[in-house]
Amino acid sequence: MTASVDAPWQAAGARADIADGDRREVELENGELVLLVGAEGRVFACAADCPHQDSPLCDGIVQGRLLTCPLHFWQWDLNDGSPVGLAELPLRVFEIREVDGQILVRMDD
Ligand code: FES
Repeated sequence: MTASVDAPWQAAGARADIADGDRREVELENGELVLLVGAEGRVFACAADCPHQDSPLCDGIVQGRLLTCPLHFWQWDLNDGSPVGLAELPLRVFEIREVDGQILVRMDD
C-alpha cells in the first residue's frame, strides 16, 4: 500500500534506518536539506546547518534530546529547537510523522 500524503509532507527515508544517536542529512524532494536525528526512541527533524556559522550538524553530538554543534558547542532541545546554555539562536525544527515505516517531514513555506 502506498502512503497518500498532503503536499507539504516530504518523504525523508525509512524509520528503521534511524537509531538513537544517528544523525543523517537528507535532501528532500523540494531540494531542502534536513537533518534527521534519532533520540530517546524517536526521530526528530531539524535544519542541517548550525544557525551560528553554518557548521554541518550531522557531526553534532546527541545526548538525550539535546543536539550539540561540534564547533562552538551551542545546544538545542530537539523537541522544539529552543536554545540551551550558550546558544543564542533557536534551531529550526520540523514536524514529522511516520506512515508505513517511512518518515515524512512537513515543509511549510
Ligand atoms: S557553528 Fe555551531 S555553534 Fe558555532
